Amino acid sequence: MTNSRTTISSLSTPQPTSEVLRARFRELFGDSQAPSEHIFRAPGRVNLIGEHTDYNDGFVMPMAIPFYTWTAVAKRDDQILESYSEHYEERIRLPLDALSGPPRRHWSDFLRGVAATLREAGHNLSGANLVVRGEVPLGAGLSSSASLEISLALALMSVSGISLPLLDLVKLCQAAEHKYVGTRCGIMDQFVAGFGKAGHALLLDCRSLEYQALPVPSNLRLVVCNSMVRHELASGEYNRRREECETGVRLLQSFLPGIRALRDVSLPDLEKYKQEFPSVVYRRCRHVVSENQRVLAAAKALQSQDAERFGQLMYQSHASLRDDYQVSCRELDLLVDLAAARPGVYGARMTGGGFGGCTVNLVRFDSATSFQANISQMYAEKTGVVPEIYVCEPAQGAEAWPPEGTAKT
Ligand code: GLA
Repeated sequence: MTNSRTTISSLSTPQPTSEVLRARFRELFGDSQAPSEHIFRAPGRVNLIGEHTDYNDGFVMPMAIPFYTWTAVAKRDDQILESYSEHYEERIRLPLDALSGPPRRHWSDFLRGVAATLREAGHNLSGANLVVRGEVPLGAGLSSSASLEISLALALMSVSGISLPLLDLVKLCQAAEHKYVGTRCGIMDQFVAGFGKAGHALLLDCRSLEYQALPVPSNLRLVVCNSMVRHELASGEYNRRREECETGVRLLQSFLPGIRALRDVSLPDLEKYKQEFPSVVYRRCRHVVSENQRVLAAAKALQSQDAERFGQLMYQSHASLRDDYQVSCRELDLLVDLAAARPGVYGARMTGGGFGGCTVNLVRFDSATSFQANISQMYAEKTGVVPEIYVCEPAQGAEAWPPEGTAKT
């Protein structure tokens, strides 16, 4: 992947992140801990299509991106978690027997939540020293939260000698986010942070949790444009959308008793009972039902290398999120409009929870560089804000670092 930050720093051959992390770990916790320290990393993600469908038992198509949250960890002999965040430049101490309590709106909620949820699931945790370094832009809709949760969970499990199937770990991190961070998120972000596959997007059925890895053709680039408007999922709008969908399901169940979620509803059924809904609830449902269809159509388009079709579905998805689900914002709409007018762009849409964050753009590989420069300039002219642009290769999911079988760097 290239972006403004990595391009510049790569000119001066930076130290690998794992080395920076190790050095920081020694500085904070002393040399004696160094031999037993381990490193884990988990990626962020960009969702190609299928937004706000995961908590409706629907379909999504995310891919992991090569921005990671890294955690260095070593075991302690007492019952304390002591953790330093590079981003917040803050060191915190959490006693393992005092993890409970509601969200505190502090980064430690993630560590507290993951540790508490592991304990609630019956696992014995050891005390640990941790250093966390996040590369996933925060509040940009690229899933910094899930990558942090998965990275922390792997770190805590390793010092405690816990081994869990990856899917259990994914579910556990989602539960931690619900209870300890306060966002009633779906499973997409944690799933792809765990199961991401290099070179592929994942078509995930969020009901059965079966997935298919779909190769991303080498003549296409996924370009992520960060509007630099920070979104705040836990602020309530996200949970409100989820409640509106649940209201829609309850209303529909009196006419269609067999349904369990919006996943089970067709557009004709929705139209048939339209009069029974408050109009906002109807529009929320229409987004989810139509978006599920778009994901399945997009999977077919990707498999047959039909970038035009995939791109049209992305534009439709954006319009539906903007008009029916109402989770876009002026800056995201502008980025999509600017992209649509550029040569070599097949499609564009907002990605992630919304209310700011990023767009994802499907671009022909030989147009990616000029697209990056042009969109950046045009967005800056219109808003006064310089966007960050990331050309992303689909990355591998969470792993110990260095991966098994390779030497330590
Ligand atoms: C956030 C949530 C996901 C998903 C998206 C919207 O990223 O964490 O579970 O609902 O928003 O598609």
